[in-house]
Amino acid sequence: MKNEQNSFIPINEKASSCCGSDCCSEPTSPTDAQDLKALVQDKYGAIARRAAGAAACCGDSMDYSIMADEYGDLTGYAPDADLKLGCGLPTEFAKIQPGQTVVDLGSGAGNDCFVARAETGPTGQVIGVDFTDDMLRKARANALKMGYNNVSFVKGDIENIPLPDATADVVVSNCVFNLVPDKRRAFAETYRILKPGGHFSISDIVLEGDLPLALQKDAEMYAGCVAGAIQMTDYLNLLQETSFQHLTIQKKKPIVLPAEVLARHLTPAGIADFSNRFGIYSITDYGEV
Ligand SMILES: C[S@@+](CC[C@H](N)C(=O)[O-])C[C@H]1O[C@@H](n2cnc3c(N)ncnc32)[C@H](O)[C@@H]1O
Repeated sequence: MKNEQNSFIPINEKASSCCGSDCCSEPTSPTDAQDLKALVQDKYGAIARRAAGAAACCGDSMDYSIMADEYGDLTGYAPDADLKLGCGLPTEFAKIQPGQTVVDLGSGAGNDCFVARAETGPTGQVIGVDFTDDMLRKARANALKMGYNNVSFVKGDIENIPLPDATADVVVSNCVFNLVPDKRRAFAETYRILKPGGHFSISDIVLEGDLPLALQKDAEMYAGCVAGAIQMTDYLNLLQETSFQHLTIQKKKPIVLPAEVLARHLTPAGIADFSNRFGIYSITDYGEV
């Protein structure tokens, strides 16, 4: 798999097979999953509450805006909805047409929803789904401020999306699936809510190489979009196993962790070794039903 920006890379061969019952970040027990979700809700609730002054994304003490792309030039951009929590620009690749129904999974304060609304126009519909109350509150306030009556936000877990089958022409999502304990189920739910012939464009964080245990186990890193990410091969396998067609990686961008973040977990020698053997990437991937 080449490491290029803005290139379309067909996923034309099956990645190496998934590794067993504990692969793909599936939690070891329902309690683990609930704990992780509660942690994620706490983190993003706090970020939403202090949104006015929020400069950094994903964690309280770490600056993950290193992952966020620049939205300022996009039509529909609403600065109040941009908490710098994303890791890509899924709408850039989502081929949204006027009049379509778009669902944004893990919509946060609505950043991608408002960009999508500029493309669907007034005859389309945009639905954001998120499970954090304070994010939903902020997103709804943003929609109200902009006077959009065709942008709505519903509370729900994307492992169990509270929308009927075949709702969406297009699903977008930005930096969310890495936070979800049962990614297989979340992809199956994405498939279910897409109309036949519909498609998704999802930006997310994936890994290449083994993340040192100290990073893996760090709950703050989990909510910081890294420690909950899975290997890119496993991620792509899950998409293929969900029966999505014409899978492509639309963009792949390396994420460079700040030295001070690595230094919290690794010795200087460990950092050098880590950098040689390990990569964190933001990818935007596409697939059709
Ligand atoms: C990194 S933020 C991204 C927000 C938004 N997509 C953006 O780019 O601004 C992750 C968002 O996903 C939501 N989230 C995480 N896991 C979720 C789940 N299982 N179900 C629904 N929402 C979830 C969080 O509440 C948070 O608002």
